[in-house]
Amino acid sequence: MGAIVLNGGDSAPVASPGFAVAGGVLHAEEVPLPAIATAVGTPAYVYCANTIRSRFRRLDHAFSGIPHHIHFAVKANSNLHVLRLLRELGAGVDIVSGGELYRALEAGFRGDHVVFSGVGKTVTEIEQALDAGVQLINVESEAELVTIDMVAGRRGVKAPIALRVNPEVTVETPHAYIKTGEKGQKFGIPRDDVARLVRFIAELAHVELRGLGMHLGSQINNAEPLRDALPRLLTAIAYAREAGHPITYMDVGGGLSVPYEAHERDADVDDYARLVRAAAEDTGLVLLLEPGRYLVAESGVLLTEVLYRKHAAGKDFVVTDAGMSDLIRPALYHAYHAIEAVTTTSGQVTADVVGPICESGDFFAKDRLLPDVQAGDLLAVRTAGAYGFTMASNYNSRSRPAEVLVDGNQFAVAGARESLADLVRLERAPLQWRTA
Ligand code: LLP
Repeated sequence: MGAIVLNGGDSAPVASPGFAVAGGVLHAEEVPLPAIATAVGTPAYVYCANTIRSRFRRLDHAFSGIPHHIHFAVKANSNLHVLRLLRELGAGVDIVSGGELYRALEAGFRGDHVVFSGVGKTVTEIEQALDAGVQLINVESEAELVTIDMVAGRRGVKAPIALRVNPEVTVETPHAYIKTGEKGQKFGIPRDDVARLVRFIAELAHVELRGLGMHLGSQINNAEPLRDALPRLLTAIAYAREAGHPITYMDVGGGLSVPYEAHERDADVDDYARLVRAAAEDTGLVLLLEPGRYLVAESGVLLTEVLYRKHAAGKDFVVTDAGMSDLIRPALYHAYHAIEAVTTTSGQVTADVVGPICESGDFFAKDRLLPDVQAGDLLAVRTAGAYGFTMASNYNSRSRPAEVLVDGNQFAVAGARESLADLVRLERAPLQWRTA
């Protein structure tokens, strides 16, 4: 395994221009959003490269001076061009599937800059990971451990592994679906099992325990869970060291929050770093971080056109050409996303913003005070750079949206809109009936 990149440097991070109104028109960096809509159509995701750069540098800077490596959680945004941008900044990746590994390698990441997480890795995925020479496979159960040992043995290699510990702390997140580090969750090794498991690992011939890690949940906006969990992770590290394992890494997962609503505050990265650094410093270990949302959420909007205004049963509706198949977070988590008119509009209306999909759950906002937009106007659904496109689907046989990357005064298609032919491509072959 090659040396990992240690980020550092003292240059203070610069603020990103991101999305701002100029001359009555919302811009992505220096590009007016209507120009993008004209060029690539709607719905489209638009990402600002400089926001990603400045978020990465800000987090990296908060950990300067101690050995650390930022592994971007690919599940948040797996666009190849976004991944390449992060690789150029010095990031590694945190992946959870063979598909994400494939993308990471396509984007030019070295295998040894990949951490493989996830509770249900298949034998094929474990083989792929070993062949790619990943930095760590994060083990989530004893059964998985035994499988990794077996697969590595068959391949004649020693698998570098880390144990993902469930610290079993109380975690507050905006929705129950995005907490993971509590007792009774499917994630991680229950903390009471760690001491036994590290002794068991010492008996296995084809795995090498190189790290311990945890991930508490997502969109965590207070320090309590981390404050409670870090000592538990340190205890697990002590057990592993006592059992004679050559521990190199301490992985604190992702979870840093971003503001979605005007009243919310940005995560205090310096506070977060202070807590984590204090725990990591004396261990002499290399710190691994797995942020997803923090690095990309604010870099993106979902650009959509208003198709219709509608009034029914005393309510106003704004019907957009984007729907829950493009951005499912409001439907799935009741997540709030700010919505702005791309061209400044006088007058306001309280309305539901809904998509064209045949589900009552297909909404972006309910009873929201909005600019009084009309058919043909553009809206930007904000904070959509994380868990937006990656959770998009083809429901209702809709093509997934285009993805556009903006850098300064330039923009480029980073992911083409799916064509209708793409939707049926895998079903075109004539049926070849077989019998069992
Ligand atoms: N590491 C592991 C092991 C994870 O499971 C996750 C996210 C991350 C890192 C990155 O977490 P982040 O820094 O992005 O909070 N779809 C949901 C979020 C699910 C997060 C799942 N795990 C949403 O749209 O809010």
